[in-house]
Amino acid sequence: MNTRLLLSAAALAVAATATSAQAQSEACTFDAEIPDFTQAQIDALYECVRDELPAAYGAGDDEVAAVYREWGAAATGPAAPGFHGGRFLNTFVNEVGYDAYITYEDDDEAFEVPVGTVIAKESYTLRDGAPRIGPLFIMTRVATDESPDTDGWVYAGVQPNGNPMGVSQSFCHDCHGGYSFSDSLGYPAYEVRLGQ
Ligand code: HEC
Repeated sequence: MNTRLLLSAAALAVAATATSAQAQSEACTFDAEIPDFTQAQIDALYECVRDELPAAYGAGDDEVAAVYREWGAAATGPAAPGFHGGRFLNTFVNEVGYDAYITYEDDDEAFEVPVGTVIAKESYTLRDGAPRIGPLFIMTRVATDESPDTDGWVYAGVQPNGNPMGVSQSFCHDCHGGYSFSDSLGYPAYEVRLGQ
């Protein structure tokens, strides 16, 4: 191949990459305000961040970040944002706790998910119309007497750069502890619960 051909092949490759990157960024630019998002827009936005989320959280050495996408999804997908700073959320539960979690029990003071349950919740939002990744929120169920102040839960988080997030146990549990009829769980919005 002569030099000119090589150069034009290279130029074509660059142009093709630029076009697909541009198409991607156009498809991932959203005009709507978050509270007005339709389910179709919520789903389209998730497509934009689906691969980016585990890659971002997994950039450090967090053990949950490395594996949570192999766990069961606790919802059909993200719902319209509510708590957790107006972010879109999507929750995964490890095998130990999955079946118990997706009963979404919320009317039983004695309900407990098994010790060893780990729950990971992705979060992301929009900044200037473009997706912006938020923390991965994590809850781990230990024996209640191992962490009595938080009813047996240990809270943690991973920043979007993969580094651990400083988490105040009392800050998280001041809110989660209010869900005393569901073992401190808030659960995904009704419209995205499995089997609805
Ligand atoms: C103001 C109340 C509030 C605070 C503070 C809060 N959460 Fe939550 N959290 C919720 C609600 C409500 C849900 C369920 C919402 C959803 O997933 O759609 C939830 C869900 C979760 C879940 C999924 C398991 C579940 O409850 O169904 C995890 C994991 C989680 N939060 C971690 C944290 C961590 C870690 C912190 C502290 C950094 C925290 N949360 C602080 C209200 C709160």
